[in-house]
Amino acid sequence: MTIRSVVIGSGHYLPKRIVENAEFEGKIDTDDEWIRSRSGIERRHFVSEGETTSTMATAAARIALEEAGKTPADVDAIILATSTADLTFPSAATMVQAQLGMENGFAFDVQAVCAGFIFALSNANALIVSGQAKRVLVIGSETFSKIMDWTDRSTSVLFGDGAGALLLEAQEGTGTPADRGILSTDLNSDGRYRDLLYVDGGISTGTTGYLRMQGNQVFRHAVEKLAATATTAMERAGVTAEDVDWIVPHQANIRIIQGTAKKLNLPMEQVVVTVQDHGNTSAASIPLALSVGKQRGQIKQGDLVVTEAIGGGLAWGAVVLRW
Ligand SMILES: CC(C)(COP(=O)(O)OP(=O)(O)OC[C@H]1O[C@@H](n2cnc3c(N)ncnc32)[C@H](O)[C@@H]1OP(=O)(O)O)[C@@H](O)C(=O)NCCC(=O)NCCS
Repeated sequence: MTIRSVVIGSGHYLPKRIVENAEFEGKIDTDDEWIRSRSGIERRHFVSEGETTSTMATAAARIALEEAGKTPADVDAIILATSTADLTFPSAATMVQAQLGMENGFAFDVQAVCAGFIFALSNANALIVSGQAKRVLVIGSETFSKIMDWTDRSTSVLFGDGAGALLLEAQEGTGTPADRGILSTDLNSDGRYRDLLYVDGGISTGTTGYLRMQGNQVFRHAVEKLAATATTAMERAGVTAEDVDWIVPHQANIRIIQGTAKKLNLPMEQVVVTVQDHGNTSAASIPLALSVGKQRGQIKQGDLVVTEAIGGGLAWGAVVLRW
């Protein structure tokens, strides 16, 4: 008997405040045409007063629970992927636990920046297949608007806020790629690349800090590493590109998304794309895209989905799952 981690609910939350590219014009030396053509981004959502990583995560989690017909009491664990937790500690995950009114189980954050949701999914899967948890809420939630240097045109136009959540449940499978649920995971990191993408603040500086990025360097690593990790995860799952229904990539830049799809020999018609509306929401981007993709009628039960992401660290990875 094989235990699989099956998605039984999904949900997302986007702050009401939408900022179009044109709003940056006049404030910094940029324009809508540059942002659109270099990144594919047209707009993004930013939090307003009172909205935080944990409140957005809770809103997304409630929708995933409702869709699954479950209550917080049915959940054994919450794993929240974020680099922008409300406070240095406690974890934003325990804040979500409290906001949901959940008195049982355990909760913790995972920090792998834009690859965070992949790392969280892999950890949730490990808890489920080892029998430590039956149902795990896996959430990605970020408020990158809080770590933007608004004078830096090379970063401030690229990121957005939001949250997405999946509820995973242990179900029996046959051990073949025909099973629903997570079929394989692949995780990687290489700390030598720290300076390509980091926040210049934290405990050591006594400030929150701002995101700093060598965008063109990150770009170069992205396509190559994303195609490689997706290929490794597909091999591990026993599937090929021909079996894949959807790629749900990290939504950082349309050119990275297109380049990776091309390397994987998959047409853009099989890629869920939300970057135009959300910008880069870091660890929230994949669960947002999964939830939106399902809502649009793209992702259906039984579809084979490949998700992949790369971010600060560098950290990168992929998950193959049957929805
Ligand atoms: C950031 C990114 C969009 C920049 O695109 P690019 O084609 O690599 O552009 P470059 O960084 O080489 O910059 C080209 C020029 O545009 C300028 N530029 C940067 N931001 C700009 C903006 N918002 N508006 C106008 N011009 C801008 C640069 O200053 C540079 O000008 P210069 O040639 O006079 O120095 C792209 O590198 C990227 O998406 N990288 C990956 C980022 C990413 O995915 N990060 C997150 C991973 S999780």
